[in-house]
Amino acid sequence: MIVTIDGPAGAGKSTVARMVADQLGYMFLDTGAMYRCVALLAQENEIAWENQDAIGELGRTLAYVAEQDKVFIAGEDVTQTIRSPEVTAAVHRAADNVQVREALVNLQRQLASDNNVVTEGRDQGTLAFPDAECKIYPSASPTERAQRRVDQLNVNGGSVTLAEILEQQTVRDEQDEARELGGLQAADDALFVVTDGMNIMEVVEHIERLVRIRETDSA
Ligand code: DC
Repeated sequence: MIVTIDGPAGAGKSTVARMVADQLGYMFLDTGAMYRCVALLAQENEIAWENQDAIGELGRTLAYVAEQDKVFIAGEDVTQTIRSPEVTAAVHRAADNVQVREALVNLQRQLASDNNVVTEGRDQGTLAFPDAECKIYPSASPTERAQRRVDQLNVNGGSVTLAEILEQQTVRDEQDEARELGGLQAADDALFVVTDGMNIMEVVEHIERLVRIRETDSA
């Protein structure tokens, strides 16, 4: 069974998706990490974003491996580097490249074939897996999402403000929604989960319940 979890950038979506996958014993696909790998390679190799074919080639040849919580490119552990502010600021350029999108959607389908999968991203229920049995669209108000991110960043003594994070989040939301191919959009048959006021465990349990119902329906 394929479970898609799409939604805007927001603290906790990946964590929730990973936990749901663990609870169900399903494979987890962090598709944002794949776009981040392409962005990292473009930066390391100093390839101009305008060079669509060269950037596309990075997607087609990406030697991506995810194991537990770690991400590797051709054996190199890039788990931390793909989350750097530099990669985060540039990754939308990789996600805008149509060739990269096509290559990564192929990779996602390959990884998912014959597996039970929870896959998280923006276009998983619409483009990558339109026939998925269970599509979830978690949402939360912009302020709630930004506040969660502030709490996450400040936990180790950081000092980011809600206003700063809200501003960055608005830009990222606009970039995600404006993308012509693979833009953020809920599938027609997605189940909306409004997570305002819920903690991570509550969201995980709620989504798990929805998946279990679908599992029973499709058995
Ligand atoms: O979820 P994230 O922040 O790791 O995503 C990184 C970038 O990749 C972000 O710009 C959205 C984009 N993305 C996408 O276009 N399609 C996906 N399936 C997943 C992520």
